Amino acid sequence: MKLTFELNGWPREVECEPQETLAEVLRNRLNLTGTKVSCEVQVCGACTVLIDGLPVSSCTLLAYEARDREVLTVEGLASPDGTLHPIQQAFIDQFAFQCGFCTPGMIMAAKALLDEKPRPTEEDIINFMDGNICRCTGYVPIVRAIQRAARDLQKG
Ligand code: FES
Ligand code: FES
Repeated sequence: MKLTFELNGWPREVECEPQETLAEVLRNRLNLTGTKVSCEVQVCGACTVLIDGLPVSSCTLLAYEARDREVLTVEGLASPDGTLHPIQQAFIDQFAFQCGFCTPGMIMAAKALLDEKPRPTEEDIINFMDGNICRCTGYVPIVRAIQRAARDLQKG
């Protein structure tokens, strides 16, 4: 089947099978491997992408459900000149990753949070990020990075 949607700000068209998940199409057909797949049962958040601005687990969403919608992956965050998005930069500056496997999903979830709530409390961050699991960092630097990104985004 033919799938058309907007991907990282650009119209895209791709052939896929009806049973393929969005994560499979992104990674295997479009070579966007920034989106990670770990649990495959909508538990860990590694595969988080935004659809029409909302975070979804792309490991369980059938690709055709993204038809005619706006999909944003971690590859779509940096500026065309390569400047990282403030959330990406904050994760680096705050050492908010170790193995990095959870990081793209964390960053996409954090973007959804900060788009919806530009000045989140620490509790807001912890609650919103509840669906994203990290086995390495202990979460403290991740919360710190999101707080820092919120401040940087406010400064513009
Ligand atoms: S891989 Fe999708 S939620 Fe874990
Ligand atoms: S940095 Fe390794 S799982 Fe989060």
